Amino acid sequence: MSETKMPVEPYRIKTVEYLGRTTRREREALLKEAGYNVFNIPAAKVTIDLLTDSGTSAMSDNQWAGIMTGDESYAGCRNFFNLEDVVKDIFGFAHVIPAHQGRAAERVLFSAMVRKGDYVPSNIHFDTTRANVEDRGAKALDLVIGEAYDPDSDYPFKGNMDVVKLKNVLETKKGKVPLVMMTITNNSGGGQPVSMKNIKEVSQVCRHYGVPFFFDACRFAENAYFIKMREKAYAQTPVIEIAREVFSYADGATMSAKKDGLVNIGGFVTLDDDSVAERIKNTLILSEGFPTYGGLAGRDLEAIARGLREVLDESYLEHRTGQIAYLGSALEEAGVPFFKPVGGHAVYLLADRFLPHLPRPQYPGWALTVALYREAGIRAVEIGGVMFGRKSGKSGKEIYPELELVRLAIPRRVYTASHIQYVADSIIELYKNREKIRGLRIVRESPVLRHFTVRLEEI
Ligand SMILES: Cc1ncc(COP(=O)(O)O)c(C=O)c1O
Repeated sequence: MSETKMPVEPYRIKTVEYLGRTTRREREALLKEAGYNVFNIPAAKVTIDLLTDSGTSAMSDNQWAGIMTGDESYAGCRNFFNLEDVVKDIFGFAHVIPAHQGRAAERVLFSAMVRKGDYVPSNIHFDTTRANVEDRGAKALDLVIGEAYDPDSDYPFKGNMDVVKLKNVLETKKGKVPLVMMTITNNSGGGQPVSMKNIKEVSQVCRHYGVPFFFDACRFAENAYFIKMREKAYAQTPVIEIAREVFSYADGATMSAKKDGLVNIGGFVTLDDDSVAERIKNTLILSEGFPTYGGLAGRDLEAIARGLREVLDESYLEHRTGQIAYLGSALEEAGVPFFKPVGGHAVYLLADRFLPHLPRPQYPGWALTVALYREAGIRAVEIGGVMFGRKSGKSGKEIYPELELVRLAIPRRVYTASHIQYVADSIIELYKNREKIRGLRIVRESPVLRHFTVRLEEI
């Protein structure tokens, strides 16, 4: 399928959910009430919600049917064994331990493996992974290749880890690196994939130094599909075999099933090491629950088991990545600036280039999210000066992150081709009228994770 053609959905609609419809005047009032923060807008007042691709998937008739087979026994429910079978078939590790979502899987894994003063490298740690590493008193290191930070480079595997940097860390911090993580795809770096070649190299380095290698595997199916599309040797390999090969190079993985599990809640840890698995299960019982349900209902386990099979369907993956590519190509044609190439789950607008008349202290990314909601009822998320701006100690002056982005994350199987076209048209229209978009100033903020609750006013 050509990237410029609108991809055809490989499914049809059985149940419909009406979109939130509002007038521009209503949205203006809602924005004011929300302190110009789209996190404070009720979801029912959003027409197209691109805040996240996590937990927002539409489940299939097959998954809903599976929910009716939920076995809610406390221990050893049949759905656990179904999940265990699927995970072992794809991931290939000896132990499968459910958890209520990705960050819970990370917490129980790190509590079994990471100690104060340790270092945990990754390509780029996702926020919750970093927070869980740091909560153990260890340091989270991002070792992604340089191209990852260049929005104009069209390098096909911008999620790759810099192997030279990794060797250096393992050499200089001997005995202090309990595991190496690798995020596939690399969410915090634009949803960019990691190549099989890089995975193999990282695995070899880890084995040489005797350090376990784990995946943060939330979007493993999207990553496997990119390997098929972009790494010549895999062009004819079924995606499920690519996924199996990817995991064969590692010792375990954490998974938020809210992404490539095609469910609204759930996750798991899977690994080979018996003694680490034992320690994880002991922690799990304290916070998540018995090891055959890990904080989930039997029906949830069944939905994940079925979702993991469906996500590897190549017509689904062709459509999924095609939808994002289509949005990117429509924006490209209109000259709208975005991070290249588009990733597996989102398009990231370059807000500082979109709104060059707004200086960083007027938060161009945030201003773009406000304008998108006001003009089109679309909700996106700023990943820029409000989310990651830091006050410098002495002067109190704000320091901004290098990139000022607005992420348009596409939920799985939720929006149709015409919804995506509506998003593209709305953004292009905004771009044509960009000089009318106003900057903002913060009027109230909290000291941590301020973007969730911050209130602003327009300048
Ligand atoms: C790469 C990555 N790792 C971990 C997580 C955490 O998963 P959860 O939200 O299920 O806790 C996310 C969530 O967005 C993610 O994108």
